[in-house]
Amino acid sequence: MGSLVVVENVHKSFVHEGHEVPILKGIDLRIDEREMLCIVGPSGAGKSTLLHLLGTLDLPTSGRIVYDGEDVTTYSSARLAEFRNHSIGFVFQFHHLLPEFTALENVTMPGRIRGLRGSELEQRAADLLCDVGLKERLTHRPGELSGGEQQRVALARALIMQPRLVLADEPTGNLDSNTGTAMHELLLSLNETRGTTFLVVTHSRDLASQMPRTVHMRDGRIESDEKNGA
Ligand SMILES: Nc1ncnc2c1ncn2[C@@H]1O[C@H](COP(=O)(O)OP(=O)(O)O)[C@@H](O)[C@H]1O
Ligand SMILES: [Mg+2]
Repeated sequence: MGSLVVVENVHKSFVHEGHEVPILKGIDLRIDEREMLCIVGPSGAGKSTLLHLLGTLDLPTSGRIVYDGEDVTTYSSARLAEFRNHSIGFVFQFHHLLPEFTALENVTMPGRIRGLRGSELEQRAADLLCDVGLKERLTHRPGELSGGEQQRVALARALIMQPRLVLADEPTGNLDSNTGTAMHELLLSLNETRGTTFLVVTHSRDLASQMPRTVHMRDGRIESDEKNGA
């Protein structure tokens, strides 16, 4: 299978009080089409920073991020926004659902923002909510859903534009452990049934061990990158 994205010798520094602070110190990573992997590591290791770069929300200080053979770090910001909209879905720890809209409306939102209308979009959203186990909750507002259910709505929303890569930053971070486990199982099953590529940051080694591949980060570097036995 071909690579979806290749990260080549990526460095990232932030300037803090006039000093350059290195955060990522030479990251190499290859993610294949349809893969599912997770990133673990202590707080401050640079996991979220790497996810932002992969999501083209920020640019590396040096190095390349190559999707389908093209180095996206050379794209203009307009082209980057276009690329991101079509190719990448995001799930964060805090899901930022819009409280005044129903689950179905929240899931269709990325499509509406891009000018899509109508029944096809709604049908796709309803199918996704069904896939994440919320068939009976389409017209509920976020306040009428549990934390785990809200996170599943956010996941459906990340999938609505059929992105090739979904980046999830501690999506189980504020869920209890049973709900967190259920969320991971859901991600694994979506990877299998829909073929979506998932990169999931987690602080739970337990959840990480259930993923096909685990990347350990420490102090801005990749410490190990292992396939987990079935
Ligand atoms: N915009 C920023 N400016 C300065 N330092 C930052 C910025 N973003 C992150 N950092 C620093 O980079 C380091 C790694 O952060 P982060 O990628 O969020 O780690 P992780 O997600 O692994 O906990 C931290 O020490 C953090 O303080
Ligand atoms: Mg983080």
